[in-house]
Amino acid sequence: MSGAASPIRSTESPRNTIVAIDGPAGAGKSTLARHLARHFGLLNLETGAMYRAFALKALRAGIPLDDSRTLERLTAETTIRLEPGDEENRVLLDGEDVTGFLRNPSITDAASRVSVFPAIRSWMVGLQQKLGARGGIVMEGRDIGTVVFPHARVKIFLDAAPEVRGQRRFEQLGQSGSDVTTTAEMASPGDNSPSPAREEILRELYARDERDRNRADSPLRPAPDAVLLDSTAMSLEEAVRAAIAIVAAKLAAP
Ligand code: DC
Repeated sequence: MSGAASPIRSTESPRNTIVAIDGPAGAGKSTLARHLARHFGLLNLETGAMYRAFALKALRAGIPLDDSRTLERLTAETTIRLEPGDEENRVLLDGEDVTGFLRNPSITDAASRVSVFPAIRSWMVGLQQKLGARGGIVMEGRDIGTVVFPHARVKIFLDAAPEVRGQRRFEQLGQSGSDVTTTAEMASPGDNSPSPAREEILRELYARDERDRNRADSPLRPAPDAVLLDSTAMSLEEAVRAAIAIVAAKLAAP
C-alpha cells in the first residue's frame, strides 16, 4: 500500500484525478460524492452499490451469507457494471438493471455480511481498480483511500456522530417508505414517536458499523493521509462546501 510511486501526479489535470471518499453509513458520502463529481466534472462511482448487487445475487440464489466458499464460487459467474448517472449509479448485475432493488434494508444488511470475506473483497477491489484506472473519478466506499486507490490524489474520510447518521438514514429511507416497512416491518402509518421502525434502523446501522469497522480484511478506517471531515454539526450545504474546499486545495497544491 505504500512505497510505490503514485500513478496520479500533482501536475495532472483534475480530469485525471482520483478523489477517494470513505466513511461509515449515513455520514453523507453519496450526496457529497455526487456534488463533488458535478462540481469538478468527474465521474461518481459508488462501490457500495457493487457489494449490494452481489448480495442481491447471493440472496436470490439462496446462498447462506456465511458460506464463504459458495459465495466465492459465485463471483466467478457474476458480472457487475456501474454506469455513472446524474443522481445515482445504474447498476447492472449480469446485464440486468438492478438499481431499484439495492436500497432495500435486507440487501443493505447482506452487503455488509458478504463484504467481510477476503476473496470477495479482492474480486471487488480488482473490478473497482479497473473502473477507475483512467482517473477522473470520485469513488466512495469504505476502503477506497486505504486499499482500492491508496495513491488517490485526494482522500476524504467523512464521519458523523452515530445518532446523527442514524437519523439521516431514517429520513432517507422514509423518502422511499416501502424500505422502512419492508425491513423493519413494523411502522404503522401515522405512528411517529417512538417509532419502532426508527429504532430498528438505528440498530441495523450500529450493527453494520460494528461489522464494517471490525472485519479482519480492510476494515473501515481513515487512510493516514486522509482529510477528516466531521459532518455532525453541519448542514448538507456546509459539508459540500467544506469538501469542495478540501478538493480544490489538494488540486492546487504542487
Ligand atoms: O456504502 P453502502 O452503504 O452502499 O455499502 C454497503 C455495504 O457494502 C457496507 O455496509 C460495507 C460494504 N462495502 C465495503 O465493504 N467496501 C466498500 N468499498 C463499499 C461498501
